[in-house]
Amino acid sequence: MTLAPIAVALDAPDLETAARWAALVTPHVGTVKVGLELYLRYGPEVIASIRGASGVRIFLDLKLHDIPNTVAGAVRAVARLKPAILTVHAAGGPAMIRAAVDELPEGRIAAVTVLTSLSEADLERVGLAGPADDAVRRLAALAVGAGARALVCSPREVAAVRAEVGPDVTLITPGVRPAGSDLQDQARVATPERAYADGADLLVIGRPITGAADPGAAAAGIAAALRRAVAAGRKGA
Ligand code: C5P
Repeated sequence: MTLAPIAVALDAPDLETAARWAALVTPHVGTVKVGLELYLRYGPEVIASIRGASGVRIFLDLKLHDIPNTVAGAVRAVARLKPAILTVHAAGGPAMIRAAVDELPEGRIAAVTVLTSLSEADLERVGLAGPADDAVRRLAALAVGAGARALVCSPREVAAVRAEVGPDVTLITPGVRPAGSDLQDQARVATPERAYADGADLLVIGRPITGAADPGAAAAGIAAALRRAVAAGRKGA
């Protein structure tokens, strides 16, 4: 059975919980995502604990953003952990993205375009005036031009980004909620089937799985629905 293209966000308060969630979901999904909080609290050992014997792909979501030399050193430092995906901010610019790409030859650098937490008023205040979609498309093109082979964007933007960057770039979308589930603090959401139909390659899903009474069963259910959508092709959900 192929594993579903889902990265479960392990936003756990402690390492034991994160490792338990990882063990429960890895029979069903191909990737787990480790974020800043867990990584800063426990350091590199978090990766070995979560990977366990499963060989699950690690998505290290550190959203690096600094001068190229510093980012190159940071990527070198985590490259030995063999993350399949590592995030940087596209706004760090082409030289920074290129430096990150060069230091992670065995993994994919994923560039975060515009944080979905920023409103258009916020964007204007940081100097990105104009529609958010324009900034997303511009940063997506810049990142791909600098060598990034993956991008993080909201499901609402994924179709426009796909049109901008073509078929070969991996598009990663958070903000995914199965129909009828609690939105929590996510505003711009899509179902897994819709996000896939619009062009997403990897769906980041956290609380609908990790907050369920049985995370393994929740992962299995969403994974099965998504595998059906993948088998049917990107025709619309
Ligand atoms: O629990 P939930 O499914 O909302 O988790 C989504 C994950 O994706 C979290 O780890 C969150 O930090 C991350 N994320 C997001 N929106 C972004 C970028 C990352 O929700 N724009």
